[in-house]
Amino acid sequence: MTGPADRKPDLTETSPVDAAQAAASKAGSSLAGSQAGEAKSGSGSGGARSNASERTKAGNIETFIGRLVVDQGLVTSEEMQECIERQRLQIEENNQRSLVELLVEADYITRRQAKRLQLQAELERSSQQIPGYKVIEQIGAGAMASVFKAKQLSLDRFVAIKVLPKKFTNNTQFIERFYAEGRAAAQLNHPNIVQAYDVGKAGDRHYFVMEFVDGRTVFDDITKTKRVAEKDAVEVAIQVAEALLHAHERGLIHRDVKPKNIMVTKAGVVKLADLGLARAVSDTEAAEAEKGKAFGTPYYISPEQIRGEVKIGPPADIYSLGATLYHMVTGQVPFDGKNPSDVMHQHLKAELAHPDQVNPKLSSGIAEVIEMMMAKDARKRYQTCKDLLVDLRALREGKQPPIAQKDLVSADLAALVRAEASAPAEIVDQRTAVPDRSVWLFRIMCGLLVLSGILNLVQFIMRQE
Ligand SMILES: Nc1ncnc2c1ncn2[C@@H]1O[C@H](COP(=O)(O)OP(=O)(O)O)[C@@H](O)[C@H]1O
Ligand SMILES: [Mg+2]
Repeated sequence: MTGPADRKPDLTETSPVDAAQAAASKAGSSLAGSQAGEAKSGSGSGGARSNASERTKAGNIETFIGRLVVDQGLVTSEEMQECIERQRLQIEENNQRSLVELLVEADYITRRQAKRLQLQAELERSSQQIPGYKVIEQIGAGAMASVFKAKQLSLDRFVAIKVLPKKFTNNTQFIERFYAEGRAAAQLNHPNIVQAYDVGKAGDRHYFVMEFVDGRTVFDDITKTKRVAEKDAVEVAIQVAEALLHAHERGLIHRDVKPKNIMVTKAGVVKLADLGLARAVSDTEAAEAEKGKAFGTPYYISPEQIRGEVKIGPPADIYSLGATLYHMVTGQVPFDGKNPSDVMHQHLKAELAHPDQVNPKLSSGIAEVIEMMMAKDARKRYQTCKDLLVDLRALREGKQPPIAQKDLVSADLAALVRAEASAPAEIVDQRTAVPDRSVWLFRIMCGLLVLSGILNLVQFIMRQE
């Protein structure tokens, strides 16, 4: 798993920052004084109450950031203590500055790190407010959301919670689709699909609760080993195709099949994540959001999604799975470019480099299957995951993929028929070449020219005489 997963087991643990804050609290610092502010606010006036709650909020964020910087090893607890002490002295001088500012000022963290930490702290704080769940740690951050590992208290089980950023809160169309798709995804039940449990809103954030997958993503595998062995890649593709078949038969198209959405448990079970979630945003919106993020470029998007076609069917997911499989076995994405639109243009127009030319160790069978999955014309791809599974299972057994081969033979036959139909016509053309009218006209003109030349010459000689 990527991200800060191995950071810290429990937010409730007492960290050096907590200890430092307890000390600061005793000394009257506003950093840890948030709790005190909260206690007082109940009896105060409205204005005092809101001031206190503002202070509480700011204090809580500071507490989070304090924890994060120490936990992430950016500063030592001594350095943190030093900044907290400095902040306390400044408060006494009525010159209060945030802890983050002081950390930047002391050169303990950069401005960039400060900004990232602030965002992370806000997200952790809001996700902690989800009733019924106790957030344990952040396990990932995608283009559209942050993912946390949490404990569902009622059932005493681990879950993963995806928290959407604030900017989506006011987009009613997005939220409606998010809930509709969440409900649809919750209807699905398949061992190869990350189970959707719940959707809801806490504070100003919408969230999605799902099965927690203890394992890694295919993206992690590709990053680590560059290439995945053909046999293993086929196994992953089979399980994803089974998941997709289940979803497609129930009318759900994934629209965002990619290495980061394919997880593998420690026992080797493949789990397709984010089913139903991608539909909430348009494909180009999603691509836009991923701009600039490493491996976030639309490397796996189907041509019809790029064209913004309304009717997106199973072949779109088959294309994306084909692109994922291509990446797994060749070690490179099917199309690369300097920016997302360049990559998307190639999905539409560029010819695919044959997988078995990129990696000569591959069997011709897998290359044929990938090429059929990635046909630019959706009608030339496998139309269903049922067909795709026939070929993938044949590959697993070391046999030739019957459907891709049949397609290849019929494509070859068609090319042969076309060649035969056109070749004789060309030959006849050349052999029985009848000069057309313009050639005759040209010849007459030349004859007339020569004739007038001779006449002029005769006239000239006669004049001389
Ligand atoms: N159900 C889950 N269980 C465990 N980890 C998950 C789960 N869902 C997502 N993750 C982790 O969180 C990361 C971010 O997920 P996400 O927001 O969907 O973005 P992306 O799919 O683009 O990576 C994933 O790459 C994965 O490492
Ligand atoms: Mg995802």
